[in-house]
Amino acid sequence: MQVGNFTPKNIQVKQQHHWLTNLFIPMIFILLTSFSTIWVYLTVAEKMQEELNLRLSFGVLFFLLLILTVVVMVLIWVINIQKEQMRKVETEVKQLGQYTLEEKIGEGGIGVVYKASHAMLRRPTVIKFLKPECSDRVTNIRFEREVQTTSRLTHPNTITVYDYGQTPEGIFYYAMEYIEGIDLRRLVKKFGSLSEGRVVHILRQVCASLEEAHNIGFIHRDIKPENIVISSRAGLYDNVKVLDFGLVKNVEEQKQKELPKGVTKRGMVAGTPQYLSPEAIRTPQSIDHRSDIYSIGALGYYLLTGREVFLGTKFIEICVKQVKEKPTPPSEHIETPLNEDLEKLILKCLEKDPKNRPQSTRELCDDLKWCKKLKYWTKEKAKRWWENYGARLKAEQEESLTKTPSSINGETNAR
Ligand SMILES: Nc1ncnc2c1ncn2[C@@H]1O[C@H](COP(=O)(O)OP(=O)(O)O)[C@@H](O)[C@H]1O
Ligand SMILES: [Mg+2]
Repeated sequence: MQVGNFTPKNIQVKQQHHWLTNLFIPMIFILLTSFSTIWVYLTVAEKMQEELNLRLSFGVLFFLLLILTVVVMVLIWVINIQKEQMRKVETEVKQLGQYTLEEKIGEGGIGVVYKASHAMLRRPTVIKFLKPECSDRVTNIRFEREVQTTSRLTHPNTITVYDYGQTPEGIFYYAMEYIEGIDLRRLVKKFGSLSEGRVVHILRQVCASLEEAHNIGFIHRDIKPENIVISSRAGLYDNVKVLDFGLVKNVEEQKQKELPKGVTKRGMVAGTPQYLSPEAIRTPQSIDHRSDIYSIGALGYYLLTGREVFLGTKFIEICVKQVKEKPTPPSEHIETPLNEDLEKLILKCLEKDPKNRPQSTRELCDDLKWCKKLKYWTKEKAKRWWENYGARLKAEQEESLTKTPSSINGETNAR
């Protein structure tokens, strides 16, 4: 079977058998217990030959221990068999039609992302595929929606999808453009918080990407640093690409109703708690595009300060803060003064009531542009940054893909 451009050639399925090794421990346990009981029985009871009762009780004890160890062994064996049945089949996909998978560049709950090369087209590509073990009806439909949504979007700040397919083995995947850059989580972790001008430059591009999505009724619902990649290409520095429309929601309710239960997680909280709007927590079924505007505010806050708006270790703890707590101004978490208009705008995005936020990404984009006395991130500054770090980032990425330690970790010059 051929799916579009893809003729899967070499899918190796590697099943792992652990139950024999897992049985080794109970076997040792049973042997040790038996031997020690026999030893106690022989040494102690022998000395007290006359005391038949004692002999008998040792015999009973031995018997009981034997039964106990057999029961434990059988139990462990049964549990292992069940675990084995549930164990995911580890699938190594090396070749997807014309695409040869090279290195893994990301992995989420249900998908794995690989850099790949096309046999004839020499453009670098990324293949994201649904992990076979996660493939059920609802997840397949969600994955399909992710591809279909992304491929409807044409804004230059949104990732471009090239193709979508399914192998004869049933593995769903899609091919998209490869962005040789860095996602914003890694950027901040490596280089620290960003300057106000750079944050504005990035957020305005995120707004531009989402404006198109919002205009056709899509809410991204998963705007966070990991899902935004920046790069330098074609003379554009800090060029943003918004990725991962995996949680996208179509606000046209009719379409939602046609979908099987669970696909849009109606009534369920979806997303990463640090970037979830209060309404996405309280009434997830009735959110609108302003929920993404809240997430953009949380993203801006993170980029400016290097920390999330609300800290916490538990999902629920962060959700409660999102709903109830007032955010501290970002300027309190940085040493250098922060542009007042920008700070106000970030806090406005983080308003609990969507009515008090900028009402559209267009409005937010314009407000960002008109922040007074902002220290702009000029093209020259961006160019210099990429000239200084771009090549090293690339080298570091290649190194990390071949599992060698990072060489530029800890630098703090993203500003
Ligand atoms: N097209 C791409 N180009 C470069 N890096 C990418 C691309 N797609 C994904 N990545 C990297 O892989 C990571 C995971 O991708 P994502 O689509 O967000 O998957 P998931 O659904 O598992 O979160 C991203 O955070 C990013 O670092
Ligand atoms: Mg992601």
